[in-house]
Amino acid sequence: MRKLIALIGVVYMVVLSDAHELPEPYTETCIIGKENKYDPKRAKEVQWFNVDLDQPAKTRWREIAAKYKFQIVELIQVIKELSFPFFHGKLIQWVDKNMSPWGKRLPQPYQDEIKGIAEEVGLPVGELVLYNIFYEIFTVCTSIVAEDPTGKLYHARNLDFGLFMGWNETNHSWELTQRLHDMVVNVNWMKNGKLLYKSNNFAGFVGIYNAVRPGLFTVTANERFNIDGGYVGLIMWLLGVGESKWMSWATREVVEQAKSYQEAVKRFTTEKLMSPVYFIVGGNKTGQGCIISRGRTKTESIVTLDARKENGWYVLQTNYDPDKPPLYLDDRRTPGNKCMQKMGQNHLGFPGLFNVLSSTTNLNKLTAYTVLMQVNTAKFETYLQTCTESCWFA
Ligand SMILES: *[C@@H]1O[C@H](CO)[C@@H](O)[C@H](O)[C@H]1NC(C)=O
Ligand SMILES: *[C@@H]1O[C@H](CO)[C@@H](O)[C@H](O)[C@H]1NC(C)=O
Ligand SMILES: *[C@@H]1O[C@H](CO)[C@@H](O)[C@H](O)[C@H]1NC(C)=O
Repeated sequence: MRKLIALIGVVYMVVLSDAHELPEPYTETCIIGKENKYDPKRAKEVQWFNVDLDQPAKTRWREIAAKYKFQIVELIQVIKELSFPFFHGKLIQWVDKNMSPWGKRLPQPYQDEIKGIAEEVGLPVGELVLYNIFYEIFTVCTSIVAEDPTGKLYHARNLDFGLFMGWNETNHSWELTQRLHDMVVNVNWMKNGKLLYKSNNFAGFVGIYNAVRPGLFTVTANERFNIDGGYVGLIMWLLGVGESKWMSWATREVVEQAKSYQEAVKRFTTEKLMSPVYFIVGGNKTGQGCIISRGRTKTESIVTLDARKENGWYVLQTNYDPDKPPLYLDDRRTPGNKCMQKMGQNHLGFPGLFNVLSSTTNLNKLTAYTVLMQVNTAKFETYLQTCTESCWFA
């Protein structure tokens, strides 16, 4: 996995030399106390859909797939074009030839769900599998669980995406990140005619990155790059020798099945995973919040809320181990911590968290959205984000 870090470093350098610009030292800001960007009306920009788990897997995504058909097809086209230079255009040929058989190896209900979506949008199953893998890999994020002075828990995250693909020099934006805005949907997951949990998804992606189980717990999953064993699991799976779970599917299963914070934490610490990940979990009462740093087969560390510690009223996680320094080019942790502390526990709430996550470098050119969750009320708000001012990264 050190190799992946090196690779990311190389990608940075390639991108930078392409742009003929060296990185300015990133500017970090904290808008707390200066500006309020929280506007609940904007949450309406992201539409809600029901996905009914009692419907056959093949048809339960039909409404979303039909509505976002054009965007899904176009985004897959963009992924193809962007990946073209890397593999001399061979990638997609290879995918069309090989991924459809892999589709058959996907566990249920994901296999039928992905097939159903592929049919609806009229693309080969293999391309939809690639599309789902793509999301699984290219996301970086910041997640926060925090409790207010009364012990009420909040959970928030930024999802950054588009890992350095398709830089547009004219308007200084990442093409993928822009396009993803058109793909974000909120989902009410229904079971027995009732709401089981809420999440948001990119249309066509069937895993879970963020969810609230009303009254019980909240979770976000953050990519974990910097340890040994990273994509070994994915490669093993592609070669047909792995049986571990995709991260976003493991997340979904725990969200669907666990009946308490404790049970969710237990499962997040023990599931066999295809790739390392951080699970950030919030419960429904004081002290219930943690960052679980996962390797593929074991848990490496757990950091929990701790009222006795200074700033122990929140945990904040980016994509680096809590006990190690972040990659210096990509420090979203230090600015995030400073801004949380500037807000302070007394001002914790959706507006405060949104403003922390709308401050650079937590808000950056790769940020696709911010999500805010509160477990007791089951409030779940998704905000599309664009960083237009001078902000990292570029
Ligand atoms: C870059 O952005 C400009 C302005 O929005 C647009 O006209 C141009 O087509 C974009 N270039 C590419 C390669 O997408
Ligand atoms: C940049 O241009 C693309 C079109 O190439 C457009 O989709 C996107 O919204 C623009 N981004 C910004 C930040 O203006
Ligand atoms: C909190 O979760 C527990 C399960 O761990 C549940 O029994 C309890 O009713 C929940 N409390 C609230 C206030 O929803």
